[in-house]
Amino acid sequence: MNIIVCRDYQAVSDQAAEKVITLLQKNPYAKLGLATGSSPIGLYDRLIKAYQSKQITFKDVMTFNLDEYVGIPRTHAQSYYSFMNEHLFKHVDIDPSHIHIPDNDVNRIDEIAKEYNRLLKKNPLDLQVLGIGSNGHIGFNEPGTPLGNETFVVHLDERTRKDNSRFFGSLEEVPKYAITMGIKNIMRAKELVLIASGKEKADVVYQMIHGEVTADLPASILQLHPNCTIILDEPAASKIQEK
Ligand code: GLP
Repeated sequence: MNIIVCRDYQAVSDQAAEKVITLLQKNPYAKLGLATGSSPIGLYDRLIKAYQSKQITFKDVMTFNLDEYVGIPRTHAQSYYSFMNEHLFKHVDIDPSHIHIPDNDVNRIDEIAKEYNRLLKKNPLDLQVLGIGSNGHIGFNEPGTPLGNETFVVHLDERTRKDNSRFFGSLEEVPKYAITMGIKNIMRAKELVLIASGKEKADVVYQMIHGEVTADLPASILQLHPNCTIILDEPAASKIQEK
């Protein structure tokens, strides 16, 4: 693991953006794995600016998102489909047919998981962006998820639902299920970039980096990836710095 500690969230976003911008300049046909949550918002802002200043184009880029809620329509303001559109896609020149976010039609969700998995196998990712849940999840791979899982439908942890209830009106409105890339899909990406900020992430970041590799803390698997960069602000790095 390559660990970068930055002064603040702005600097974290700059570092992460630099990685993506360098990749897109080298390979305009790159296949990018994208994440949602508050952590990558600053990164997406910078990518939009880099597009506006003509440093990069998304014309030939293909994107694959980690996950999506099941139980709310894609048009819901808190769906990851809406999130990606709001925070990145509607601001850049990406071809809509190059955007991939797992569909969430509950009537055919198992088939959708299989299709998404096939799609990921056909399109090896050059770089996957990740955040980390306070319980150590990546994507929506909750503690206890077998590390060999591929795309699947997950019953969300109560802790995750509580954490994410800040985006919804109430806890009851947070979906109970989601569809997510499995750990195995994530680990196949050539490069991983995980972003974490804030002191609420300090414990889980410490465990991810210094704890044992275990399904109880899915992000710990990243210790085994050959090209993984963890970008932290000082509060998120505080426990590892104490060590
Ligand atoms: C969500 C997403 C994850 C994300 C995590 C952390 O549950 N499924 O991909 O990494 O939450 O979110 P945040 O960055 O808002 O702390």
